[in-house]
Amino acid sequence: MSKYFFSVTINMYFLALLLSAASGATCPLWSCSTSLATGVCVEYQDSSTYLVNYNGCPSSAPYCNYESVLSWIPNAFSGYTWSCETTNTTDYWTVPSSSNYLACKPKYYNKNLASGSHPKECSTIGSTDSNCILKDGSYSECKCGLNGKAYCVPEPSSEAFSDYWTQCCTINCGHMDTFKHYLYWYLKMEYYVEYISGYSCTKIFTQFSDIDNLDYVGDGAIGLLMGLGAVILL
Ligand SMILES: *[C@@H]1O[C@H](CO)[C@@H](O)[C@H](O)[C@H]1NC(C)=O
Repeated sequence: MSKYFFSVTINMYFLALLLSAASGATCPLWSCSTSLATGVCVEYQDSSTYLVNYNGCPSSAPYCNYESVLSWIPNAFSGYTWSCETTNTTDYWTVPSSSNYLACKPKYYNKNLASGSHPKECSTIGSTDSNCILKDGSYSECKCGLNGKAYCVPEPSSEAFSDYWTQCCTINCGHMDTFKHYLYWYLKMEYYVEYISGYSCTKIFTQFSDIDNLDYVGDGAIGLLMGLGAVILL
């Protein structure tokens, strides 16, 4: 075995180590494509890449429900497409039946990350990643974002939602003003990781455009929100 071969092998070994340390989680990339047919919302390329229509949905079929796409993906094969929908099938617009749904959530102490701040990357999907340990010693979830990376899910009581606590406790004295205010925070908390990690084309999903449309705090641009990144030209 030549010295050269040996050194290349060693370098590849370290490269592999580096790569595995940097990207422990295997999260698919929701990439923007400018060449999908009009009316296509998402095209499944392979298990690591989903193409999202950079041109959005047409006005004749303006909706694309992120949850519907998520449940379609396990049955998709390369080249399969999910079409933009003519009706808005998001179900969170139903006003909750409980009489006190506008009341603020209970606020717990020590729900910030033990180290660092949101958005914070993690590598093991689930609730065992030490990157996501909170000040109180519990683990928050590590969840895939839309950019191929995973992030710790912030707890409702964490500093990631400081605007919620300002709205709730200072301005509104313990409750949200209206259903739409409630809904805005519901979506922000539910989809924090996806929302902050998506490229601009992922606003094609009704859930994320609703967050922008409902934004009454003006903090819609928090986080990473990566402009026009990751456009794939096919
Ligand atoms: C979905 O439907 C609700 C209720 O009709 C509406 O207020 C909301 O704006 C719709 N979402 C989009 C993206 O049009």
